[in-house]
Amino acid sequence: MSNAIQSFLTENKVLNTNYNVSGESISSYESYKKLCLEVENNFDEFWSGYATDLLSWSKIFTKVLDDSNKPHYKWFVDGSMNVTVNCLDIHLTNGNANKIAIIFESDDGEVLKITYKDLLKRVCKFANGLKNLGYKIGDKCIIYMPMSIEVIVAMHACARLGIIHSVVFGGFSSKSLHERILDIGASLIITSDYQKRGGKKIPLKAAVDAAIISGNCESIKNVIVYKRAGDDINWLSSRDLWMDDLEKNQLDYCEPVFVNSEHPLFVLYTSGSTGKPKGIQHSSAGYLLWAKMTMRWTFDIRGDDVFWCTADVGWITGHTYIAYGPLSMGLTQVIFEGIPTYPNSARFWKMIERHKVSIFYTAPTAIRSLIKSSDNDRSVHPDNFDLSSLRILGSVGEPISPDTWRWYYKNVGNENCPIADTWWQTETGGHMITPLPCLNYLKPGSCSLPLPGICAAVVDESGEDVPNSTGGFLVIKKPWPGMIRNIWGNTDRFITSYFPEELHGYYLAGDGAQRDNDGYFWIMGRIDDVLNVSGHRLGTMEIESALVSHSKVSEAAVIGRSDDTTGEAVVAFIVMKGERPYNDEAINIAKELRNWIACEIGPIAKPKDIIFGDSLPKTRSGKIMRRLLRAIANGENINQDTSTIENMSIFDNFSITF
Ligand code: WT7
Repeated sequence: MSNAIQSFLTENKVLNTNYNVSGESISSYESYKKLCLEVENNFDEFWSGYATDLLSWSKIFTKVLDDSNKPHYKWFVDGSMNVTVNCLDIHLTNGNANKIAIIFESDDGEVLKITYKDLLKRVCKFANGLKNLGYKIGDKCIIYMPMSIEVIVAMHACARLGIIHSVVFGGFSSKSLHERILDIGASLIITSDYQKRGGKKIPLKAAVDAAIISGNCESIKNVIVYKRAGDDINWLSSRDLWMDDLEKNQLDYCEPVFVNSEHPLFVLYTSGSTGKPKGIQHSSAGYLLWAKMTMRWTFDIRGDDVFWCTADVGWITGHTYIAYGPLSMGLTQVIFEGIPTYPNSARFWKMIERHKVSIFYTAPTAIRSLIKSSDNDRSVHPDNFDLSSLRILGSVGEPISPDTWRWYYKNVGNENCPIADTWWQTETGGHMITPLPCLNYLKPGSCSLPLPGICAAVVDESGEDVPNSTGGFLVIKKPWPGMIRNIWGNTDRFITSYFPEELHGYYLAGDGAQRDNDGYFWIMGRIDDVLNVSGHRLGTMEIESALVSHSKVSEAAVIGRSDDTTGEAVVAFIVMKGERPYNDEAINIAKELRNWIACEIGPIAKPKDIIFGDSLPKTRSGKIMRRLLRAIANGENINQDTSTIENMSIFDNFSITF
């Protein structure tokens, strides 16, 4: 492990003493240390204090944590609450009723605003519509929608009634959608006719129709459609309903369904190291508490903030830091339909200026692409815009390189805004390791220190702590309220993936990491066969099985290589059933395979390079030599031990296509 993982990032401190904590974050490093000690000594009191202060309960819990059936932890035992009450109703009586909850900016720049009072009204009307159709607590709903006020309404209407939602990213194909419909056993789908991104109109309802037609979807009773474009679409009148028709004539108020603390609020699918995506199941009370606590700590929230997280609701970041966290805090937030490069690469900076954004949270891949654009065209450089409203910047999804960090810090934050390099995962529910605004210094490239209550460590194969500056497995030693509760329908996989026996029941994150002498954490990438493309996880097995399901493909191996913009890029080594293709034929087949992957999984999983060969390099026991393929794809010299390879000739035989 220590040899396999090495950090090449140079450590350089950046003083952060310019920033004064003025919101709800932890005020100083000393207070941070005190809180860490507090939770270590009085675990129950610590968590119960926050849970009672920050959440509104219909029935208060009787016990903080039930750990009698590890790793099936139960938080806030016997408590009842409703997530939408905590995100919307509470603001009707605390002075936020007429505050803008959402500033929506469409792809073409149109702006719509909605207050907390009106957002609650819309959620209630829609929830009443769902209730009239017979949907109730425990039902499962797939949401496949563009970034919009309506997707927030849909998620909260589900939460209002205790319906478990599963949001599927609009960039996923009908095939991926179908897989998720079946896995969760959905009876309801909420979608949109189209989505608009970068000036293009992309059909969504048609993908839903295609998914349902592909079979075994008898459980689906209704498809509710938000009208985004208004063009003609296919319609099945016994099943399909327009969202606005359903809301019409409904009462403005809908009684919330109070659910048990542990009731699943949602299931969100993410890639793992096997072919099948995992349905990460989150709770209601613990999840929301962690969303709210991390909002306050990481972003030093103030009542006058304008918060903007650029993620899509199809990912966990869009759940915790768009749909739930900001609303629980009564913040005004920007929700953006489009993409950072349309109509040009100044879009983000223009929007920060236009809406006076004070907290901006985005991904390294977006920053890298905007650096590139502004190097080529000075007119889209952040210098041309008034970004003085910014107080805090955030980064999420992958390690941010020190160069990118410095550019972001200087050109976007004007050297005044701390960068929260937030390390977390779909499974963790919210931030885990991230620089608090009160830290005296930041280290570009390091996600720094764990939040109070998060017992993060770096251990070896047997779960023992490794010394500082030594690579190892990143684990979390104690449970926390926002943690994953299960893999939907697969408890065995839940236990083996996250709580392997050798590690004493610690939560295994699947990332390699090391800790430096100041206790700062440095994340060094995944330890399993998972790639990180543009800040999103893709399982190599998932792409491989999609490739071999193509009639012309005999064998496929997928690995990652580093890429300037997307962090990692997908590289596929392919052996065809017939003759190995060359020249134009290879280019055509590669095109066909890339389209195939776009249909099977989604454009995000398309291989950037496709390399054809006569066979794959294997050991005598038949295992594909991935390490070797990785070296080939990254253009490295092959200096590994190749004595166990059966077919050395492979290296002469591969050709690179893109
Ligand atoms: C994986 C989780 C968390 C929401 C977005 C992605 C990588 C995430 C960082 C960071 C280094 C990071 C890890 C992690 N990752 N944030 N700040 N520094 N690596 O969620 O799809 O669940 O992926 O993203 O490898 O395990 P996800």
